[in-house]
Amino acid sequence: MSEKPSAKVKHFLQFKDLNREELEYLFERTRIIKQKYKSYQQYWPLSDRTLVMIFEKASTRTRLSFEAGMQQMGGSAIYLNTRDSQLGRGEPVEDAGQVISRMSDLVMIRTFEQSIIERFAANSRVPVINGLTNEYHPCQILADIYTYIEQRGSIQGKTVAWIGDSNNMCNTWLQAAEILDFNVHVSTPPEYEVEPERAGLYGHEHYEEFTDPMEAARDADLVTTDVWTSMGFEAENEERMKDFADWQVDEDMMAIAAKDALFMHCLPAHRGEEVSAGVMDGPQSVVWEEAENRLHVQKALMEYLLLGKVTG
Ligand code: CP
Ligand code: NVA
Repeated sequence: MSEKPSAKVKHFLQFKDLNREELEYLFERTRIIKQKYKSYQQYWPLSDRTLVMIFEKASTRTRLSFEAGMQQMGGSAIYLNTRDSQLGRGEPVEDAGQVISRMSDLVMIRTFEQSIIERFAANSRVPVINGLTNEYHPCQILADIYTYIEQRGSIQGKTVAWIGDSNNMCNTWLQAAEILDFNVHVSTPPEYEVEPERAGLYGHEHYEEFTDPMEAARDADLVTTDVWTSMGFEAENEERMKDFADWQVDEDMMAIAAKDALFMHCLPAHRGEEVSAGVMDGPQSVVWEEAENRLHVQKALMEYLLLGKVTG
């Protein structure tokens, strides 16, 4: 007899799957878990737990941070990709969800359409984490906001300038702004504007769109961008190189932002395209701290999804 997977399983498929109180808990938990790691304290709350990581797109940071994070918490991680598994040969994603979640405790998926991860999760008995889809990149924004808090304190009421494509990163920043009460100033080239429904937004109160990227960056507390061509959109690359040419974060743009503004980029970055080398490698850039924090926030996330709130 086939049992229905529990509807009560908590997933992290998009940023708004966590409310403000849960996010605040996670950021505080990240601080504690990071401190344990930095002081070489052994912390194995997930011993005997197994994470399955499914990649339908390339990755360096996401794979490494999930795999290392799981090992550091005493568990193990198994890597699957489309090429070497039945997923690439047309096995229905619903069937994969049923099977994979019977052999593991937690699943992370990087894929194309958001609907794929939602169909998997609807058939999963264990929590599913979005490791990037065409629409969202919630783990990255957890790391970015944690990095902001670590460097500057609360993000509430602050202004984030998003320069470039209204892609998965941009959509997730916009969701986060609604939950954590900050503002996003978005500047995209014409015809690449935010699609509020695709971004999963409740309203328009937390973001403003600017045709001029310099105006979006004016007085911003954080300036951030991403590649002009995301994975899955490679066929548009040539056209995008022309369309986005004026949307580079450079020294002039950082000069118009707030004096103590930070620069972030989820990486991989293309110096000379979406960001100048001077900004990427300059004093306001916190991109390496941001990348490292993927490890720490995801450890807190995995702990929360598997064990709930813990102390110690
Ligand atoms: N930022 C990020 O998700 O990097 P990877 O594509 O290397 O995982
Ligand atoms: N927007 C980029 C992020 C890569 C981490 C992409 O989807 O390719």
